[in-house]
Amino acid sequence: MERREFILKSGTLVTASVFLSKYGFANALINYDNEQDFSKRPNPDNFQQPILKAIALGINAPSPHNTQSWKFEIVNDTKMLLYVDENILLPATDPPSRQIHIGAGCFIETTVLGAQRFGYKSIVDYFPQGYTNESDFGKKPVASIELIKENIQVDPLAAFIEGRQTNRRKYKGNLISQEEFNALASLTGKSHSKLVFINSEFEPYLDIFYRGFEIESRTFDTNEETRNLFRFNEEQRAEKRDGISIPQMGYKGMMIGLAEKSLDMGDKEKWHSDKSINLSLKNVKQGIDSTKGIVIWFTENNNFLDWVKSGRDYVRFSHALTSKELYAHPYNQAIQEYAEMTTVRNELNELLKIKEPQKVQMIVRIGRSSTPYYSYRRQLNDFEKK
Ligand SMILES: Cc1cc2nc3c(=O)[nH]c(=O)nc-3n(C[C@H](O)[C@H](O)[C@H](O)COP(=O)(O)O)c2cc1C
Repeated sequence: MERREFILKSGTLVTASVFLSKYGFANALINYDNEQDFSKRPNPDNFQQPILKAIALGINAPSPHNTQSWKFEIVNDTKMLLYVDENILLPATDPPSRQIHIGAGCFIETTVLGAQRFGYKSIVDYFPQGYTNESDFGKKPVASIELIKENIQVDPLAAFIEGRQTNRRKYKGNLISQEEFNALASLTGKSHSKLVFINSEFEPYLDIFYRGFEIESRTFDTNEETRNLFRFNEEQRAEKRDGISIPQMGYKGMMIGLAEKSLDMGDKEKWHSDKSINLSLKNVKQGIDSTKGIVIWFTENNNFLDWVKSGRDYVRFSHALTSKELYAHPYNQAIQEYAEMTTVRNELNELLKIKEPQKVQMIVRIGRSSTPYYSYRRQLNDFEKK
């Protein structure tokens, strides 16, 4: 197996005026596919204060299980404090809340890119009041974000905030080539984490993806956590505006209704039955087998800052993918920290020659596919720190 590491160089930047003359307006590159209904997300035009406009865009960020575990304290028109929401954690699948903090990093990067579209640069100060252990979650900020009006350069990645989507469907066409990856890496720019790209000899990884998913599904506590975050019809999705669901898993057309019917609004017995789990594994296997490339983010250490910065890296790469009409689908099960996953997690680390304190922070399959279901986000006032 060939392992390649890329310490990425700084990406190309353009000035705001070049950006606007080239693209006309900031949203120009969004794919206005019928399935992408932007009313599901906060609209920055509804806000006057620059910090709220930036947050409205930041909320488009990815987060584990679409938890959106973010709380905001607005300091003034141009400054906010970001906290994780200690009431929205994933204790079964994410015991240390590592992925929750990666989600916080995703929010930061999306907000920083969003602010650029309004002509603001951001100063991000991590853990301004310190951060030692889980008793600080939700009590101490993960970061302060301060916006400064400047004649800034708008990163081309800022155009893909609304267009970026996780895609769990089957991937089509050619493998992603090394040249394509290099172009993505160059668009992504400098990363804190190290990226590994694999486009051949997938089998051991695909096997690990599958076994990781199977363990998560057959372990009661982790499968139950997913059930609690699952939304079983469009009404629930529109009401809760979070979580995951059958269309988000990649199902299309009539299959959505059939699969939702069989889940019977999340009936506990049906959800945990072999029949439901086997059906979901069958769908998952088709996706895994269609992998066209694998990207892995790992860090030399595994502390809070590594988690948050990895989230920022992940968003930048995801926007680069969107710019090339490519998609990612994380398979993070195998890197999760609960006991049942230990064997598979160690196997993956051995395959990648990752040794503690190094840590794989994200692992995704990438490829081309049709536009997936557009996920909801909660309304901005829902995130206010009480
Ligand atoms: C830290 C992190 C971990 C994630 N892990 C997984 C995963 O293991 N499997 C998966 O299908 N999606 C995973 N996702 C994707 C989220 O479920 C997705 O971002 C969320 O549902 C919102 O959908 P969107 O990305 O299409 O906006 C992860 C996202 C983040 C930020």
